[in-house]
Amino acid sequence: MTAKPQRPAPPRPDLAPVAKQAIYAGSFDPITNGHVDIVKRGLRIFDRILVAVLENPKKDPLFTTKERVAMIREIFSGRPEVEVQSFHGLLVDFAEKNRTRVVIRGLRAISDFEYEFQMALMNRKQNPEVETFFMMPSLRYSFLSSALTKEVFALGGNVSDLVPRLVERNLRARLGGQRRGRIPKKAG
Ligand code: PNS
Repeated sequence: MTAKPQRPAPPRPDLAPVAKQAIYAGSFDPITNGHVDIVKRGLRIFDRILVAVLENPKKDPLFTTKERVAMIREIFSGRPEVEVQSFHGLLVDFAEKNRTRVVIRGLRAISDFEYEFQMALMNRKQNPEVETFFMMPSLRYSFLSSALTKEVFALGGNVSDLVPRLVERNLRARLGGQRRGRIPKKAG
């Protein structure tokens, strides 16, 4: 028997949200369906989510900050409860500036835990008012990362189930020229 895909359950207006606003911070280079899933799950708990895109020139991103922000805005254009901004400097300072106590981070696997644990406690040390809220994406995205998506796409793989269409189009525009075709399977 195959397991049914896990989608967020429909909203239940009879269940009160626990908080008004949370920040969902990351590099989002580019945003994947795993990130989208976390935002949708988050909106079942928080009234508003502020997606905070890190300006990370050192990381040499594939998409500029402006491009990453624009893509996420477009993807959530039908959801006025999702705001998108870029930030630089400390995340806890951005949270304080936006009067937000909760920072969401997605946890995919145990391998994420150590880094996330360190980051959450360091953030708490910098500002004890800010809490990290871990959320797990749907199982079908638990292997997914922006870095792997870019690599697979550049090598000719199929990412259509892994990123929103807009992102796939932009990956094609950015990497299409240098994209390597897959080696065709031999018949028989
Ligand atoms: O998607 P990523 O790259 O894993 O996101 C990492 C992010 C943006 C959450 C983290 O690098 C961050 O918060 N950077 C801002 C600078 C900062 O506050 N650093 C101290 C974190 S302990």
